[in-house]
Amino acid sequence: MNDARATLLNRDFFEGIGRVHDASVDLVVADPPYGLGKDYGNDSDHLSGANYLAFSRRWIDAVIPKLKASGSLYVFLTWQHSPEVFSYLKTRLKMVNEIIWDRKVPSMGGSTRKFSSVHDTIGLFAVSKDYYYDIDSVRIPYDAETKKARTRSIFVGAKWLEHGYNPKDVWSVTRLHRQDPEREDHPTQKPLEIIERMVLASAPPGGLVLDPFMGSGTTAAAALRHGRRFIGFEINPEYHAIARQRVAAMKNNSGRKRRHGREGHQEDLFDPERMIQASSK
Ligand SMILES: C[S@@+](CC[C@H](N)C(=O)[O-])C[C@H]1O[C@@H](n2cnc3c(N)ncnc32)[C@H](O)[C@@H]1O
Repeated sequence: MNDARATLLNRDFFEGIGRVHDASVDLVVADPPYGLGKDYGNDSDHLSGANYLAFSRRWIDAVIPKLKASGSLYVFLTWQHSPEVFSYLKTRLKMVNEIIWDRKVPSMGGSTRKFSSVHDTIGLFAVSKDYYYDIDSVRIPYDAETKKARTRSIFVGAKWLEHGYNPKDVWSVTRLHRQDPEREDHPTQKPLEIIERMVLASAPPGGLVLDPFMGSGTTAAAALRHGRRFIGFEINPEYHAIARQRVAAMKNNSGRKRRHGREGHQEDLFDPERMIQASSK
């Protein structure tokens, strides 16, 4: 592997992962096919039951040796598969969090025989108890009113009041609608806001982030935006092209699509000319 800041591979993860050095990765962000029959232009999402678990074990076994001792891994799952995948991951890594991504708006026209599902289940796992975690980079600022209400002397100079509170393990972020300016042509694109939080909290500045199932390149965008290096795999050439274009568009900061206007702490580290090397193989 070269030392380019971003390497986007139009390649099957299972074939390409051998190129990544063992113990070189700070953070894995995995958003694998869910086993729910989505159309990614391939049959990767058509596994179920024991086959889905076998697929999950296979990518987990392939990626774990790539993590540093301080490294960690986030995985997006659905409630249908998270129990067994988490059980397996717990045999290999330390479980740190179960995070619920509350997508806020359920899909239209769901079943009337059960409650509407509106969440993804995200697991955060670490190689060891000494995993990297920077809480200060992801604190949520208190509003002016709350700050004003905490005027008692015991609160004066309190770091938590100045820097904000720890994000909870339920993340309420609206899923990307077709009309969303951030939206690319990918059926299960994740909001940048979610992946940015993972990158900031769990990869040190300059660290290496790996995404085995890159899709539209959301993890690449988040990593580069915050001065982390990136390597990712995507088998569908159209999605790979989208990811490349997305990363290339970051060369022009004004061309970057943002929804919430929240500026990252490491923005000034981003030098696209230096960091981007999009590769097709
Ligand atoms: C859930 S989507 C990822 C979406 C991505 N997080 C985003 O925000 O756009 C999973 C992706 O994995 C890709 N994929 C499936 N099997 C793969 C494999 N063996 N190697 C690389 N990519 C694969 C699919 O084509 C699909 O785009």
